[in-house]
Amino acid sequence: MNKLTANITAVGKYLPEKKLTNKDLENFLDTSDEWIQDRTGIHTRRIASKNEATSDLCINAIKELLNGKNIDPNDIDAIIVATVTPDMMFPSTACIIQKKIGANNAWGFDLSAACSGFLFALETGSQFISSGRYKKVLVVGSDTMSSILNYSDRNTCILFGDGAGVVLLEPSNKGFGIIDSKLNIDGTGGEYLYLKAGGSRLPTSIETIKNNHHFLYQEGKTVFKYAVRGMYNVSKDILERNNISVNDIKLFIPHQANKRIIDSTAKKLKIDSNKVLINIDKYANTTAGTIPIGLYDAVNEKKVSKGDYVLLTVFGAGFTFGSTLIKWGL
Ligand code: COA
Repeated sequence: MNKLTANITAVGKYLPEKKLTNKDLENFLDTSDEWIQDRTGIHTRRIASKNEATSDLCINAIKELLNGKNIDPNDIDAIIVATVTPDMMFPSTACIIQKKIGANNAWGFDLSAACSGFLFALETGSQFISSGRYKKVLVVGSDTMSSILNYSDRNTCILFGDGAGVVLLEPSNKGFGIIDSKLNIDGTGGEYLYLKAGGSRLPTSIETIKNNHHFLYQEGKTVFKYAVRGMYNVSKDILERNNISVNDIKLFIPHQANKRIIDSTAKKLKIDSNKVLINIDKYANTTAGTIPIGLYDAVNEKKVSKGDYVLLTVFGAGFTFGSTLIKWGL
């Protein structure tokens, strides 16, 4: 039998209904629509309602995927959820999802790699499939960033939104799907982007709440520089080691953190701008959600066809970064 690869055979996404525009932010922050659009490319972001947590966003995305492909949840072997905003510390978001969608034969877990989470989860799921052990793996990327943002900090709250995306991995013996992944972590970047309290190092207390330690902290300028360098390096390396030129890439889906990061990375890679998927204007940075939401949009807008090469690249807290090369098989 030919070597098995993990093919993406279905996609789903969910964005909460509520929109928070730059104009809305002007009402309570010292900022402007012009500044945000100019410095980040963001116009609007979606915000989860009070009764929506990350598992709810994921379930809506998964239901769309399952209904679209008419899949029985009992056929799902595993559920991997990339998130840094789980419903709670435990049980895992995967367990909550498994129960609610009725995936009675599945196991699963959450995976924490911030904005790179989806690619780390995709590589994990891909290995599960190509080993021959599993036939249907759901890989979900979702974050409810509004739950960890300080809406009086203009440096951070303008950048993020809430959302979820999901793909189904199934085996292909014709070489479609995930061809290669190059993933990295660099812990020296940990001090530039983190959420300090609520873990075992600094459990929740009145002090941690008073000091705003349950909100995301970021040194934006530093993260910006590392993001461009990191995304460029992994993208270049993965293309080189697969003997694929940028001209062979039909679609580049980079992590949607800042339009200027995307533009600089694409320029360094010499990828034509019309091959770069951009949806940051509508959704902002949904952390682990950006790549699967981008994949969904690419399919929906018919930007990819069977046999096309697609390059996914991410960068996030940790630092974490990585690139995945796909031969599109849907
Ligand atoms: N509205 C208006 N002014 C703002 C602002 C806002 N929302 N946020 C910051 N500013 C101000 C700053 O206070 C600063 O003013 P000062 O010069 O008087 O001090 C000025 O704008 C420039 O700030 P600076 O931090 O140099 O801006 P920047 O061009 O680096 O853009 C980010 C800031 C955060 C948008 C940018 O660094 C970034 O996107 N970094 C990547 C972060 C990221 O997305 N990470 C997610 C994980 S990958």
